[in-house]
Amino acid sequence: MPFSIVVGAQWGDEGKGRIVDLLASEAEIVARYSGGDNAGHTVSVGELTFKLHLLPSGIVHSHTTGLLGNGMVINPGVLLEEMERVQQTGVKISPDRLKISHAAHLITPGHIALDAAQESARGSQKIGTTKRGIGPAYTSKVTRSGLRTALLHSPDKLEIAVIEHINQVNDQLTSLDSEGSLNAEKIATDYCSYADILAPYITDVGLFAYKALVDGKSILAEGAQGTLLDLDHGTYPFVTSSTPTAPGALVGLGLGIGTAGRVIGVVKAFQTRVGEGPFPTELSGDMAERLRGTGENDWDEFGTTTGRPRRIGWLDAVLLRYAVRVNGISELAVTKLDILSGLKSLAICSRYRIGEQEYLDLPQGPADLSQFQAEYEPMSVWDDDLTSIRSWDQLPVQAREYITRIEDLTGLPVKIVSVGPERSQVIIR
Ligand code: GDP
Ligand code: IMO
Ligand code: MG
Repeated sequence: MPFSIVVGAQWGDEGKGRIVDLLASEAEIVARYSGGDNAGHTVSVGELTFKLHLLPSGIVHSHTTGLLGNGMVINPGVLLEEMERVQQTGVKISPDRLKISHAAHLITPGHIALDAAQESARGSQKIGTTKRGIGPAYTSKVTRSGLRTALLHSPDKLEIAVIEHINQVNDQLTSLDSEGSLNAEKIATDYCSYADILAPYITDVGLFAYKALVDGKSILAEGAQGTLLDLDHGTYPFVTSSTPTAPGALVGLGLGIGTAGRVIGVVKAFQTRVGEGPFPTELSGDMAERLRGTGENDWDEFGTTTGRPRRIGWLDAVLLRYAVRVNGISELAVTKLDILSGLKSLAICSRYRIGEQEYLDLPQGPADLSQFQAEYEPMSVWDDDLTSIRSWDQLPVQAREYITRIEDLTGLPVKIVSVGPERSQVIIR
């Protein structure tokens, strides 16, 4: 794998962290390329559970070097806390092992306050953001008024830039009728203290990644969010503000088109979504509750970042084929197959319908999904517990049929089947 990209094929929380952890045993470099601490990636290794928001999941393997690419928006306070938390479990984090792009953008308390004020102003049209300041930080970037991480090398310039930025934010907050006013000097002082610690980590990540590839090293890029949350290709406007799809890995790390190889699409065996927006296969009632879980297990469907209950639905092959297309996915990894054991019924949406007209693909992208009616294929159920199974042949025939149907509907091989959150709970085909 010289340069492999792992992407979420649904609305996020597919188990990308879990799959990256698995694949990172063979990668020398692990990289995040988009988003910020709106992401929440869970990795379970033996007794240890890591909840990662900014660091690449593969960093828990001691042989790897982690990269945070230019496509990211980084809250330095959150990053320092996460570095500290991860170090307490014995994982070493140092400028040798972690490189932060000089061209990533900083999230500030100003962006976070704007995120909250904008959501509140949207009223019933709210997006349901994670309130981590993601949208406003990317807005600063595209309006060319953002604070790049390179500023951490120059505390004097950083101080002036933060004060100017917070003063502007305060004006914006006033126009949004927000009561809060932020203390620009205090925030600038905090950011200068973050710079003291983080400056040695800031470097040209694109150059580092390029040289690594030239030297024959392998890079594993870890997508955050999911295809249907992509700013261009998702269910706009109910999306995040970045490019989590596979092409975002090139732009977001500063690597050229020819470098990418394998694109692994991570698919949950059913489907979830956090926040607002259309969801054609959404379930309610007992089945949704059963698939969500009560929250007592770490893997139950409650947001890793916000704790919100995730919305639940059947697997949607129309959207999955779309994800295969826009990402150029070359193989699939299916997670949480174990959760389907013991269900009374099971279904996959294989097509959409409007009146008499059937749709196998989306005619105009996923923005206006509410017009479609999902059509389902019933699938056979099984009772067996899958969590101890490690080979394809040992899976119940109905579970194998379920995976094979996903392969038929997408035209792609499912090379990894995950049957539990722990590193070893997996079937490799
Ligand atoms: P990500 O954002 O795509 O990395 O996914 P999250 O970590 O937010 O959510 C996936 C959740 O499912 C985590 O709690 C994982 O530990 C858990 N998980 C991943 N794969 C499996 C699996 O095969 N079975 C079970 N039961 N849990 C899994
Ligand atoms: P991982 O990497 C699931 C959703 C939010 C909201 C929308 C916009 O763990 O899969 P934002 O704060 O980004 O402006 O919110 O995107 N969202 C996610 N949903 N998993 C994520 O990340 C998400 N990151 C953002 O819930 O609907
Ligand atoms: Mg998540």
